[in-house]
Order: sequence, then C-alpha cells, then structure tokens
Amino acid sequence: MLLWYHKEVVDNVFCTEENMLNVMLTALILACSLSEARPTERYDERTKQCRLIAQGQLSWESEPWGTGGVKFREVCKSCHSRNNDKGAPFIHAESYTSKAWNSIFTKRRKKCARDGAWDILTEDELQMVNDYLYRNGDWTYDPNDADSCG
Ligand code: HEC
Repeated sequence: MLLWYHKEVVDNVFCTEENMLNVMLTALILACSLSEARPTERYDERTKQCRLIAQGQLSWESEPWGTGGVKFREVCKSCHSRNNDKGAPFIHAESYTSKAWNSIFTKRRKKCARDGAWDILTEDELQMVNDYLYRNGDWTYDPNDADSCG
C-alpha cells in the first residue's frame, strides 16, 4: 500500500515535469522559428560584400531601434508618411520584398534618390537603412533561399 502510494506520487511529479518540459520546448521552438523567419544575410552589390545582418553590431543596427530603423523614420518617412504633402507614396518596411529593397538601394533610380533627397545620409547609413528594410521587408521563409549570399 505504501509502495503503491509512493509510485502514484512519483508518477504525478514526473507527469508534471513532463508537461512543463513540453511547454518549454514548444516555447523554444516557437522562439526559434520566429527569429528564423527573417533573412540573416544580405549581399550588397555596391560593396560586393556579404553583410551578416543577424550578428553583432549589424544585427542591432538593422532593428527598428538601430541606425537603419532610426534613419529610415527620420529621413525616408519625413516624406513617405501617410497623407504627406510631398507627393510621396506611403512606404513602410513591408511595402517591398527584401530583394526589391536591395534592388532599390543598388540602382538608386527612384526619383528621390536621383534628386538628392537621400544625400543627407552617409554611405554607411544608407547601407544600414538597406539592411533594416531587407531584414524587415515582406519576406517569406524559404529554406532553399534563406539568405542572399549563397
Ligand atoms: C524629400 C522627400 C523624400 C525623401 C526624403 C525620400 N523620398 Fe522616396 N520619394 C519621394 C517622392 C516625392 C517620390 C515619388 C516620386 C514620383 O512621383 O515618382 C518617392 C519615391 C520613392 C519610391 C518609389 C515609390 C513608388 O511607389 O514608385 C521609393 C521606393 C522611395 N521613394 C524610397 C525612399 C527611401 C528608401 C528613402 C530614404 C532613404 C526615401 N525614399 C526618401 C520623396 C522622398
């Protein structure tokens, strides 16, 4: 009887721990898939360099609070805000795919890029705005095309 009771308690404890482990594993997998759901590398055609935008300093700078996000809001959004009077269409990170953002920054053929509106940004800052938009652009996870550096 005592032995039986003991087993019951042990079973219950084990069961509880297993549940907790399951919850933790689920949370971990969710966290991993969320952080996975963005590109981690960006090939920059201008400098011919692979930018590791999910690591170290570049990771910070390509977030909304880093140089890339801040400069996008400060400069680009000064015109591209909703209902602006500058004749600029409303733009946010998800307006374009990552690839399209890369092309916009490589070619720099949009009217505002040609007429000097981008020039208050340094080359470094432009790279970081590009990083930010690339990382947070309209991007669907494709295991065969996860990163652009190859
Ligand atoms: C001084 C205002 C101004 C600034 C600053 C500015 N833009 Fe523009 N941008 C415009 C205007 C106006 C147009 C529309 C030009 C036209 O009619 O073709 C435009 C067009 C664009 C387009 C094409 C949109 C479309 O639907 O055709 C993109 C993309 C773009 N800008 C991105 C940017 C980015 C990225 C930045 C920051 C690095 C930026 N712009 C900064 C005024 C600005």
